[in-house]
Amino acid sequence: MFKLKKIVPWGRSFEEYVRMFAFSQKDLEKRILSCADGPAGFNAGMKKLGYRVISCDPLYRLSAVQIKKAITESFDKVMEQSIANKKNFIWKNIKSPEELGHIRMQAMNEFLKDFDTGKKEGRYLSESLPGLTFPDKHFDLAVCSHFLFLYSTCLNLDFHLQAIIEMCRLAGEIRIFPLLDLDGNESPYVNPIIAELKKLGYKPKIRRVKYEFQRGGNKMLQIKM
Ligand SMILES: C[S@@+](CC[C@H](N)C(=O)[O-])C[C@H]1O[C@@H](n2cnc3c(N)ncnc32)[C@H](O)[C@@H]1O
Repeated sequence: MFKLKKIVPWGRSFEEYVRMFAFSQKDLEKRILSCADGPAGFNAGMKKLGYRVISCDPLYRLSAVQIKKAITESFDKVMEQSIANKKNFIWKNIKSPEELGHIRMQAMNEFLKDFDTGKKEGRYLSESLPGLTFPDKHFDLAVCSHFLFLYSTCLNLDFHLQAIIEMCRLAGEIRIFPLLDLDGNESPYVNPIIAELKKLGYKPKIRRVKYEFQRGGNKMLQIKM
């Protein structure tokens, strides 16, 4: 079992976001909200390419120094669990747990370097799902990586539904990745959420993407209005 007592700050790279969410060039030009973005390198990578994304996460109430400390505190635990559950991952693009640690730290350092400037520019906002403060349809696209579905043991079905409906309020299109929980099983909430969204008139669809690190984690939930 992949054991984490709480939701940890852990960040993927800009390149991983592009593959997880099957972003096209056109997508990157959209008004994007990235929920539960944590210490990921996505926002910093977007900025470098001249694009703008708004990231929200309650972690951003902290200073860069405090976030760095929180990353250091969870790093060993996440690495220990990744090694203990090595068979649940595909060691192809990332070849070993050592390389994983290196790639994740690189992405999180990109985030840390960008954080103070990004906060001043309003790109990193301390906001928590399921209640965000943006006006309706303020964005074209809202995404969420490695928070919803992944932490199905910490966050219940009602939280998932409220959070996803809130994302639908804010953007014309939603993408959520992965659909697996920490143990690599499909989240028990995927089907109930899809059923509920259909009842509410949304168009949810599971899409295969060209990214797979967690074994079987190569699908995102895409919701259109
Ligand atoms: C595992 S990290 C994922 C970071 C990033 N999205 C990625 O894929 O690399 C999960 C993030 O969820 C954030 N989080 C926890 N509770 C939240 C909430 N209620 N709303 C939004 N984000 C939350 C945590 O602070 C943490 O940064």
